Amino acid sequence: MQHPAPRSPIQWWELYIQIPERLSEVISAYWHDLGSTALVIHDTAILRPRHEACIATTPDASGWTVMQGAFPADAHLLGRVRALQTFLQSLCTDAAEATWYLYGRPLQDDAYLTQWRQFFQPVQIGQRLLICPPWETPPVVPPMARLILEPGLAFGTGSHPTTYLALVLLAQTLVEGTHRTVLDVGCGSGILSLAALQLGAQTALGVDLEEQAIAVAEHNATLNDLQHRARFVQGSWDVTEAQFDFLTANIYLGPLVNMIHSLAQRLAPPGTLVLSGILAFQEPTLRTALDTAQLTVVQQMTQDNWVALAVRHRV
Ligand SMILES: C[S@@+](CC[C@H](N)C(=O)[O-])C[C@H]1O[C@@H](n2cnc3c(N)ncnc32)[C@H](O)[C@@H]1O
Repeated sequence: MQHPAPRSPIQWWELYIQIPERLSEVISAYWHDLGSTALVIHDTAILRPRHEACIATTPDASGWTVMQGAFPADAHLLGRVRALQTFLQSLCTDAAEATWYLYGRPLQDDAYLTQWRQFFQPVQIGQRLLICPPWETPPVVPPMARLILEPGLAFGTGSHPTTYLALVLLAQTLVEGTHRTVLDVGCGSGILSLAALQLGAQTALGVDLEEQAIAVAEHNATLNDLQHRARFVQGSWDVTEAQFDFLTANIYLGPLVNMIHSLAQRLAPPGTLVLSGILAFQEPTLRTALDTAQLTVVQQMTQDNWVALAVRHRV
């Protein structure tokens, strides 16, 4: 008779948190930053800690999300869990949201650590760009370029429509040799800056208000050996007064309208500015703002009610 293989010592803790759905993006960014592997979001779900299947999906859980992740069971485990707890406490301040839960247990089946990867498939942008996670980097044949990105942040891999649309317009309008310098406002994971470099730009400056975005973007630059051509700085368009050949800004309508004149000043003619993050019903407002900044639309893309525009100085 064969004996089962001895169980390996515990190496991972799995953690579950039940949080208000509206906070899932900011919490997943923070959690990823703390070093969690394999973040999975279960929508419309609640936690049932004493059950083996500790997540229940039920219509009663509307407005709640359960996030699942794992930390290595090392000397930093307790500190990381405490940091997550403190962060949750600081966010869930009103009474209705004060009932968040955190539940942890030793990870029994570490297949989970690789299974989650199936959610991150390569994203292809036409015939120009293939965006892959670090564990799946198929060779590409020019003119296709490859961009490796560490998933984890919600806006990170090109699968969100606003990022996807910006990437499509970027791939269609960036001209190698003409568009040499890039400013990426609201760079997040650095995806648009790094894509521009892979598509023929020479240098990129990415800016973001969030400190953790800068760290992730720098990490992604290194993954692609682009760290000498990409610079990421915490802040916004006003960190520089230089002009650039190509600009990208995938933010939301309000900030885009507020900064449109400053973006126009930083766009060296005949440069192109790609704007994304706009819902279809907001497009007229953006077009009015573009008009006042003497910018004109040269290309437009739409998906799932989102709109992205490529614009240039009016001649
Ligand atoms: C929708 S995400 C886009 C991230 C990435 N560029 C992409 O396309 O996936 C917007 C990013 O803009 C940043 N952001 C929001 N307002 C900003 C502002 N006024 N200046 C600079 N960054 C800003 C946010 O922190 C966030 O990382």
